[in-house]
Amino acid sequence: MEDLLRTGYLLCTHLVPENSSIVPISRLAVSRAGSPYGFEVDGRFLTQSALAYYLRYAFVASHLDLDHVDTIVELGSGGGKQVEVLKRLHPKVTFVLLDLPAQLYVAERYLHVALPRDVVPYRAMREPGPPSLIPGKIHFLSNARIADLADTGRTLFWNAASFGEMEPDVVEQYGADASRFSDWLFLHQCFDGKERNSAEDLGGVLDPVRFAHYVRAFPDFRMLDKRPAHTGLAYLREGDGRYHDTFWARRAP
Ligand SMILES: C[S@@+](CC[C@H](N)C(=O)[O-])C[C@H]1O[C@@H](n2cnc3c(N)ncnc32)[C@H](O)[C@@H]1O
Repeated sequence: MEDLLRTGYLLCTHLVPENSSIVPISRLAVSRAGSPYGFEVDGRFLTQSALAYYLRYAFVASHLDLDHVDTIVELGSGGGKQVEVLKRLHPKVTFVLLDLPAQLYVAERYLHVALPRDVVPYRAMREPGPPSLIPGKIHFLSNARIADLADTGRTLFWNAASFGEMEPDVVEQYGADASRFSDWLFLHQCFDGKERNSAEDLGGVLDPVRFAHYVRAFPDFRMLDKRPAHTGLAYLREGDGRYHDTFWARRAP
């Protein structure tokens, strides 16, 4: 398995074009918190998921130098591991993580150990109303508080494999909220829609969110690039669905 991950690492170095705004993977190491399975390159610890998160980052950074971004707002931040990769490569950026409470708790606990100096504890931000963000720090807000965000400067909105778990009307509401403060969007999704809920499978959605729904949810934005998402080991597929990385910019007024 370790050899396979090393091959994935080498593949990442080939998949990512040389571009002055992309920090090379040779500068990345991630935390061992939680004892994940991983491998070392030149004394730097990496995991399989770190390769995938790095490739998402590199796709975005090929369009936008993250050193020129003030804030990245990730909705559906899961375990917080994407933010760890972004923060390690671009330490000055301010982060806002939004998710359902259980996942937000996991991300808060993980990042508390992985990046202890960068984290603002959840309890410091839990009062409703516009949060006072601390530049360069990582903040955790429950999902509904996306409506409280304002004055986040040059902002990249990030959603990876999360909108697909929702119904179209929920994505439209989030789209309206995120459109108030975002300048760019990174959407990593299965644009043909995720699996439907069925009698055999209690998971899934009632009405899959497809590409046209994203266009409707973000009318102020134009998609500039769409490429098949790669994990470092293979193109990312789930059943019949394929994931794509997409980058969007706000339309000129
Ligand atoms: C498949 S995980 C992806 C996590 C992370 N973005 C990643 O790429 O590893 C989907 C995430 O979306 C979140 N999510 C699902 N429904 C949500 C909702 N209605 N509002 C906010 N987050 C939601 C889940 O809690 C979970 O963290």
